[in-house]
Amino acid sequence: MKKGVLTELRKIEEEVKGCQKCRLYKERKNAVPGNGVYDTKIMLIGEAPGRNEDLEGLPFVGQAGKLLEQMLNNIGLSRNDIFITNVVKCRPPENRDPITDEIEACKPYLFRQIELVDPKLIILVGKYSVSTVLGINLKISHLKGRVFIKEGRYIFCTYHPAFVLRNYSSYIDEYTYHFEKIKKIIEKIQ
Ligand code: URA
Ligand code: SF4
Repeated sequence: MKKGVLTELRKIEEEVKGCQKCRLYKERKNAVPGNGVYDTKIMLIGEAPGRNEDLEGLPFVGQAGKLLEQMLNNIGLSRNDIFITNVVKCRPPENRDPITDEIEACKPYLFRQIELVDPKLIILVGKYSVSTVLGINLKISHLKGRVFIKEGRYIFCTYHPAFVLRNYSSYIDEYTYHFEKIKKIIEKIQ
């Protein structure tokens, strides 16, 4: 990593923890800037913290996170090989969907993190990360399993693990297949 990049990433963490740029700061216990490693070629982006994430200040630590971890482990990765974050850094009340103005307020943090981590592969899980990062407002059913190249990075779109958990028997095979595709991309970028 270039000198100064880590300092800048740590600065973003501090800014997020103190941020009041949208209404979501009011009910949060902890803001969730991200977790894992900054010195990596792989970034994974979810939607927003849920209850457990809000309590711990870490992304994907609940049930959905367990599935995600399992999927990563299946292809030889752990949480500590990648950087994991969300589009919105504070928990929406009752886990409602994030609202457009909240996403707009929060996305400069995400975009700065992407610039600084400078990953070769970004895994987008769920429609909010897809619409925010790719600017495509299509249902995930039209985009899942697809790879885009943007600014020299591979961008892979797949289901949100919470969705797969809710529809486990119907989607787990396809999810496993998506992670196999991710593994192939990782082999290319090493
Ligand atoms: N769902 C998300 O999108 N992100 C988390 O961090 C947890 C659940
Ligand atoms: Fe700030 Fe983002 Fe939290 Fe809103 S969700 S208060 S913009 S860090």
